[in-house]
Amino acid sequence: MLRVRNLDAYYNKAKILNDVNLEVGEGEVVAILGPNGAGKTTLLKSVCGLVDVKGEIYLNGEKITNLKPHERIRMGISICPEGRRLFPNMSVEDNLLLGAIFNGNYKENLKYVFNLFPRLEERRKQLAKTMSGGEQQMLAIARALMSEPSLLLLDEPSMGLAPIVIESIAEALKRIKKDLGVSMLIVEQNVHLAFEVADKAYVLVKGEIVRQGSVDELQDLEEDYFEV
Ligand SMILES: Nc1ncnc2c1ncn2[C@@H]1O[C@H](COP(=O)(O)OP(=O)(O)OP(=O)(O)O)[C@@H](O)[C@H]1O
Ligand SMILES: [Mg+2]
Repeated sequence: MLRVRNLDAYYNKAKILNDVNLEVGEGEVVAILGPNGAGKTTLLKSVCGLVDVKGEIYLNGEKITNLKPHERIRMGISICPEGRRLFPNMSVEDNLLLGAIFNGNYKENLKYVFNLFPRLEERRKQLAKTMSGGEQQMLAIARALMSEPSLLLLDEPSMGLAPIVIESIAEALKRIKKDLGVSMLIVEQNVHLAFEVADKAYVLVKGEIVRQGSVDELQDLEEDYFEV
């Protein structure tokens, strides 16, 4: 459903991604692993239309490389960004409402995300900035689901969270995969979380894909992680 072909990405003249090729199938969960500065966030931003690129990006066979970010959202792409990027002075509920602004049935989707994360329903009037780190991550994921995406992009959902909270995020992602069948592209440095949820993975180092395979084929990554 997502196909990235020969993608180069640039910030001004600096080339950050070099000839990246990847595919996410319908309902498939794909992880992008790699060290700091590898270009993982740049790759997700390229799919959203926020970076200058060369090469091609297709969504369900349609070329989206030159579409504006809001056009891509309407086509079913949604992102849960690095660092969550919530609206800190707005309530949980208002953050969720903004997630549904371009697409989606607000009431129905709100019911789903409150069922997925009951904590958000209990705290629906609380300001986002006063939520714990784990709760903020739940809210960021929930907000991204409010537009009923067919492709959900997640940028380091485990960042800064304790192991037990990471486990609950992994459980939520597995449930989303099962309930909604949404395709996902998950950027992670936590290989354990990525492998719990993903079907296959790509390893990105210095802007290039250096390895790819099914989660089974890449099991050795769990031990000697990115000392590169
Ligand atoms: N807006 C920008 N302008 C210029 N250079 C940038 C910009 N954003 C990122 N870069 C550079 O692009 C490279 C890749 O950054 P990116 O954020 O994509 O890496 P990452 O793999 O997501 O890293 P991390 O794991 O730390 O989040 C880095 O060298 C970074 O300095
Ligand atoms: Mg990043």
